[in-house]
Amino acid sequence: MFEKVEAYKQELKDIAVKSAEELEQFRMKFISRKSVIGDLFNDFKRVPNEHKKRFGQELNHLKSLAQERFQHFVVELEQNTGNQASQSIDLTLPVQPDQLGSRHPISIVANKIISIFERIGFSVAEGPEVEDDWHNFSALNFPENHPAREMQDTFFITKNPDTVLRTHTSNVQIRLMENQKPPFRSIMPGRVYRNEAISARAHCFFHQVEGLYVDKNVGFKNLKDTLYHFAKEMFGKETKVRFRPSFFPFTEPSAEMDISCFICGGSGCKVCKQTGWVEILGSGMVDPNVLKNCDIDPEEYTGFAFGMGIERIAMLKYQIDDLRLFSENDVRFLSQFTGADT
Ligand code: DAH
Repeated sequence: MFEKVEAYKQELKDIAVKSAEELEQFRMKFISRKSVIGDLFNDFKRVPNEHKKRFGQELNHLKSLAQERFQHFVVELEQNTGNQASQSIDLTLPVQPDQLGSRHPISIVANKIISIFERIGFSVAEGPEVEDDWHNFSALNFPENHPAREMQDTFFITKNPDTVLRTHTSNVQIRLMENQKPPFRSIMPGRVYRNEAISARAHCFFHQVEGLYVDKNVGFKNLKDTLYHFAKEMFGKETKVRFRPSFFPFTEPSAEMDISCFICGGSGCKVCKQTGWVEILGSGMVDPNVLKNCDIDPEEYTGFAFGMGIERIAMLKYQIDDLRLFSENDVRFLSQFTGADT
């Protein structure tokens, strides 16, 4: 056993370590708990008593020699790699700021719309994107086989044609009115789906914000006041609005709202196609049939509703001319919105 100790001492003196792997091998062999030195300590009990003292001293000496050599190799290796690294790193360079992400323009616009309505007492409601015919169409006064259903190209679930991907966020109006008692004052943001070929102007999914206000004595004036307030908050104090008669199965009367073009102020430009006006949303007084479908008495309650496309507003606001950019996740596009939500 004494010879073994001598042999290891010699090995420790001769050995050279040139890489991290070799250092690790060294550590395993001489330093770790399962090292050869550890084994020798385990053998200690088998050493005859008269040799125990000398063997112990020899072993301790071997152990410190191994540790000394290990420290030496660690420092040596650090110096070698450190020298190489310090040649290529200029420690006096200023620190690069961290790359921060930015909010998606759809979220920026949705949050802005939500905060405008929240400040005047609207709460936020949400509903399912996979919807049944009743909530997406029938309860909203789209009669079966009525051409109004063709206004929106629908994705039907093949296995169950009663199930659709919602074509608008108006389904949430129904879910809200079915489950709670009036008054209602809510906005409902969310994703909607249409069976359209993808192009710069159309996509198979996009986002809407729906609005619903139902109470006693709600009239068209309330609708106009609310949406006028929204237009000014969203697009600036100078904004003018105009309402054009329109048709939606779930509102009567119905109107589309245009705002004066916020790019040219109404004098005519590319964004407003020289008309001075841009269409922003659909709206109307909730059709009595819709209230009845939700067990609300239209003699007692009336209301207004509106719906707008978030992509459309974002495209106008940021002058984006291709709808596909919103879903491609190209950082060159997205990074342009850093700080846009503040
Ligand atoms: N659901 C309509 C659409 O997707 C938008 C809309 C128009 C919603 C008028 C409404 C409304 O609540 O009153 O085109």
